Amino acid sequence: MPQLAERMSRAVPSAIMAVAEKAKRLKAAGRDIISFSIGVPNFLPGEHVYAAARESLTHDSGQYGSNRGPDALLDAFLAHLKRNGFEGFERKHLCVGVGAKHVIFNVLYALIEEGDELILPAPYWTSHIDIARIMGAEVKIAHCGADQDYKLHPDQLEAMIGPKTKLLVFNNPSNPTGMVYTKDEIRALGDVLVKHDIWILSDDIYNQMIFDGIGWHHLLETHPELRNRLILLDSLSKTYGMPGWRVGFAAAPEALAQALVTLNSNHITNLPEVVCAAAVAALTGPQDIPQRMCVEFSHKRDEVMATFARIPGLSCPRPQGAFYAFPDVSFAYGKRHGDTLISNDVDFCNALLDAHGVACVPGSAFGEPNGLRISYTCKPAELTEGLRRFEAFCTELA
Ligand SMILES: Cc1ncc(COP(=O)(O)O)c(C=O)c1O
Repeated sequence: MPQLAERMSRAVPSAIMAVAEKAKRLKAAGRDIISFSIGVPNFLPGEHVYAAARESLTHDSGQYGSNRGPDALLDAFLAHLKRNGFEGFERKHLCVGVGAKHVIFNVLYALIEEGDELILPAPYWTSHIDIARIMGAEVKIAHCGADQDYKLHPDQLEAMIGPKTKLLVFNNPSNPTGMVYTKDEIRALGDVLVKHDIWILSDDIYNQMIFDGIGWHHLLETHPELRNRLILLDSLSKTYGMPGWRVGFAAAPEALAQALVTLNSNHITNLPEVVCAAAVAALTGPQDIPQRMCVEFSHKRDEVMATFARIPGLSCPRPQGAFYAFPDVSFAYGKRHGDTLISNDVDFCNALLDAHGVACVPGSAFGEPNGLRISYTCKPAELTEGLRRFEAFCTELA
C-alpha cells in the first residue's frame, strides 16, 4: 500500500473512547459495568428543541447553507454571548463548526505552523493535545498538579512563553478536573498575557455549569484588550444536552473568523438546516434545563467528594464546575489488589474495572499520571453504587 501522510503518525485515537469502548464490550459480554468514563451530559434538550427541528423539516429548503452559519443561529449565539457579558461581537466575528472539537481543529489549522509552540496546561483535555500534534505544534505542557488545584499559575505561564510561542489553550471550567478559576486568578493570568503577543484559545464550553454561586469569569472580562487575539469557544453539547447534534462556535477577531469560514467552505460547507433550527431553539428558548442540570451536577459532585473524603490517602481538589472530578490516587501505587500490583494510574483503572466493574479514565490520558478522571453524569443510583465499589476497591488495597 502507498504511504499515509506523515502527519498521520502523530494522530492517535481518543484515549477516553478506548476506555468507554472496553466498558461497553464488557457490558455486552454480560458484566455488570458502571461507566464513569465518558463526558456526556446524559440529559436531553427540551421539547421546544425537537419541535423546532420538526418544524424546520416541514419547510426544508434542501439547499446548501452558509459556511459561517445561518444568520438566525449567529444572532442566537450573539445573544448568548451577551447574556454571558460579552458585548461588541457581530456576525462577522463568528463561525460555526461540527461541534467545538471541529472548531478547535479549524482554529489550530488556521494558526499553527509546523514547529510553533503551543502552551497547554495539564491536566488537559485529550483532544487539545491530539489536535495540536496533528497540526505539527510543539506542545509545551505546563504541569499543574493537585498541589496547585490543577490550575495554571501566572509565574508558570510567564516562564513558558518564549519567542516561538504561538498559542495558549485555556480551558475553564476544566475537563478533566472540574476546576474553575476565580476572577483574581484569571486577572493574574491576563496580566501575563497582555505582555506577550500570542493567541489564546479560550475553551469555555462548560461555562453554564458553575457550582456554589461562584460565577464564571473570563480573560475578556478582566482584560478586554485581549479581544484581538483571543478565540472564545463554545458548544451546545454540554450546556443543552446536545452532544450528538454537533454544534460548536468560535467568536474571534474578524480575520480569523473569516479563515474559519474559508476552511468550512472547503470541507463541511454548512451545518444541516434541521440542526441549525434546533440549535436556535436551544439558545433562545427556556434556559431551565441547563440550570436544573447544574444543580443536579453540584449535588453529584458533593456525593463524589463525600466518598473521596472517606478514603485514606486519596486527595481531590474540589471541583466547582463541569461534571468531572480528578482524584489523586497515587497513594495506591506500590500496593496490591489481590495478586495485582498497582504501579500506576493505568493499573489502578484496569484493576478497578476488572474487580468491581467501574470504568474511569487513567489520568495519563490527560497528562497527569497521579490521577484519574471520573465523569459523574450517570443516573443517581449508578453513581451511588459506582462510588460504593470505588471505595471498596480502595479499602481492599494492601
Ligand atoms: C474541554 C472540551 N472542549 C471541547 C469539547 C468538544 O465538544 P463538542 O461536543 O462541541 O465537540 C469537549 C468535549 O468533551 C470538551 O470537554
